[in-house]
Amino acid sequence: MNDEPEAFKLSAKLLERGRWLFAQKCIFISGAADYGGVPETDLPEVAFVGRSNVGKSSLINALTERKALARTSNTPGRTQQINFFELKGALILADLPGYGYARASKTEIRRWTRLIFDYLRGRPSLRRVCLLIDARRGLKGKDIEVMKNLDEAAVSYQIVFTKCDKVKLAALERRTNESAKLIAKHVAAHPMIIKTSSTKKEGIETLRTELAIIADIR
Ligand code: GTP
Ligand code: MG
Repeated sequence: MNDEPEAFKLSAKLLERGRWLFAQKCIFISGAADYGGVPETDLPEVAFVGRSNVGKSSLINALTERKALARTSNTPGRTQQINFFELKGALILADLPGYGYARASKTEIRRWTRLIFDYLRGRPSLRRVCLLIDARRGLKGKDIEVMKNLDEAAVSYQIVFTKCDKVKLAALERRTNESAKLIAKHVAAHPMIIKTSSTKKEGIETLRTELAIIADIR
């Protein structure tokens, strides 16, 4: 009575692993204001990167089903250091400050940019970067600059659209196709774009499943 296709069984298993992973206890480890403050760990790590206000902290809260694990805000520039969270014994989640926040001082922008790039280029345990893109805006100059840096550093990254609840389906499809064409030219980019809404809890299960592949699950 075992006539399910192999691929289907595999994806059901991954779905289950994703659910299990994010049901584990999630704890705040530490915050780093400069690269020297980044904690030493030997667990695989995933980083949430993107423009200021794109929804990085909200996505971490949606994934872990915690309302305020990562602090979110209506005003851009909320997260000012890299915050590290651990899904007990399996995976580290890194919440990065956003780039492109025009109202920060020049010194602050310089410090954040340095921190983000030092971290992205120098972190051996970093298995995947989730590069968050507001579904209303699509991929823009600064995002492409980050993608080029990740290509050069050979860090695998995946585009995650956020705030998909704010765009109509047809526009979302158009934006996805445009972005898919663009990322095909980038060597370290994962070909699949994940469409999410933290408020409507959409795409969250898919992202959990993706991240279960890189987590340390025995
Ligand atoms: P910085 O830390 O400042 O870089 O911002 P961030 O990328 O961590 O964004 P944050 O999660 O703080 O969210 C910014 C704003 O967007 C908040 O007002 C959130 O409520 C809102 N937001 C986040 N995700 C979604 C979403 O999926 N849909 C909608 N409609 N709003 C969202
Ligand atoms: Mg944040």
